[in-house]
Amino acid sequence: MEQYAINGGNPLVGEVEIGGAKNAALPILAASLMTDETVLVENMPDVRDTNILLKAMAGIGAHVERLDRHSVRINASLIHDLTVEGDSVKKIRASYYFLGALLGKYKKATVVLPGGCDIGCRAIDQHIKGFKALGATVSIAHGMITAEAPKLVGSHIYLDVVSVGATINIMMAAVLADGRTTIENAAKEPHVVDLANFLNSMGANIKGAGTDVIRIRGVERLHRTEYAIIPDQIEAGTFMFAAAATRGDITVKNVIPKHLESISAKLTEIGCEVRESDDAVRVVASKPLGHTHVKTLPYPGFPTDMQPQIAVTLGLSKGTSIVTESIFENRFRYVDELIRMGASIKVEGTTAIIEGVSRYTGASINAPDLRAGAALVIAALAAEGISVVDDIRYIERGYEDFHLKLQKLGAQIDKVESERELQKFKLKIS
Ligand code: EPZ
Repeated sequence: MEQYAINGGNPLVGEVEIGGAKNAALPILAASLMTDETVLVENMPDVRDTNILLKAMAGIGAHVERLDRHSVRINASLIHDLTVEGDSVKKIRASYYFLGALLGKYKKATVVLPGGCDIGCRAIDQHIKGFKALGATVSIAHGMITAEAPKLVGSHIYLDVVSVGATINIMMAAVLADGRTTIENAAKEPHVVDLANFLNSMGANIKGAGTDVIRIRGVERLHRTEYAIIPDQIEAGTFMFAAAATRGDITVKNVIPKHLESISAKLTEIGCEVRESDDAVRVVASKPLGHTHVKTLPYPGFPTDMQPQIAVTLGLSKGTSIVTESIFENRFRYVDELIRMGASIKVEGTTAIIEGVSRYTGASINAPDLRAGAALVIAALAAEGISVVDDIRYIERGYEDFHLKLQKLGAQIDKVESERELQKFKLKIS
């Protein structure tokens, strides 16, 4: 099994190129099935989740041609199957985007019920409510969910919770429905806007994405497009906190600084210097860092996908910090691992009370999920001595070349596959 071997304690310094956003790429790839014409998607991250999705698309008959690592040409005119199943697709949350996309285009879809990171209850009632409002019947049997409709008709849908997935799924189903759809209390995340821009570039008529009311006027068909995915806000934020935790100096390049505002604000508040330019943000952590309170919220609030990374950093900052998780109830599973590295953190319900310590020490740790895994790698890079991080397949779901990008910033990190390779790493750094 692959692991990361890490020798921590050095500040990370340098520049890192941020890739395309995983959580925008996933719905955009699914939505590319909604036209019979050819779609070119660029700036696609080459990560496990996007590759699983592309394979599933090819499995139902789409022609998927990888032009290079980050560009793919898709033609879905010969789709022969409206059922998406299989073990790998079951493991990714985004498999549910096939529901909205195929229901929208073919008025029927059956998809294996989604998995994804084990970060808490991940209901899909709002997706179902939206599909039903558009006229579909939805049934669940044998682990599969089916949505179908003789025809979809626009509707007024108020989401009871702000949900990225439900907003995206309803948007996809509604673009080819008859008439107008309004989604109220919609999610405003940059990837919701990116999908709307992608669909509009295919001829859809979506207005208001990025606000909490999205208005869609159904069109008859979608057409070809060429589209580049936005930069990954969470990948960028992860490197920004890596700078803070290791007391380094990192410039994240190819980003949209506006998308990083809540992250930059917290870094500034705890004492980092954050310098923005047009498409880059530099984080310098030269002074001792202080404490703060932070609560995760839907965009433009502080992202739940950055919660473990800020907690790891606050664990090394002076004073008492409070981190409240308001989106997913099971997102503190990394805390036990961090405590094994010397952190002083107490979790009470959805709140973590963090007493800053002066250092972490290296340990053998497990990545419990994607973002927590990345955060634990940051902890290991900040820690004194050697750490081994297990279950890195979670991290590879959403970070492209994570260890290679870290190496370029001066990190001593290798991917190892055996005890022998781990010994080699230890010899190399001694
Ligand atoms: C997306 O998950 C992301 N995944 C997650 O990123 C991210 O953490 C999350 O949005 C919040 O930003 C993808 O984009 C593939 P939600 P999603 O629907 O769509 C509740 C990562 O690390 N809810 O916005 O599943 C739900 O339980 C991943 O990249 C309902 O109650 O999240 C949660 O409390 C992890 N009913 C809240 O809403 C529903 O029908 C937000 O969930 C849907 C959601």
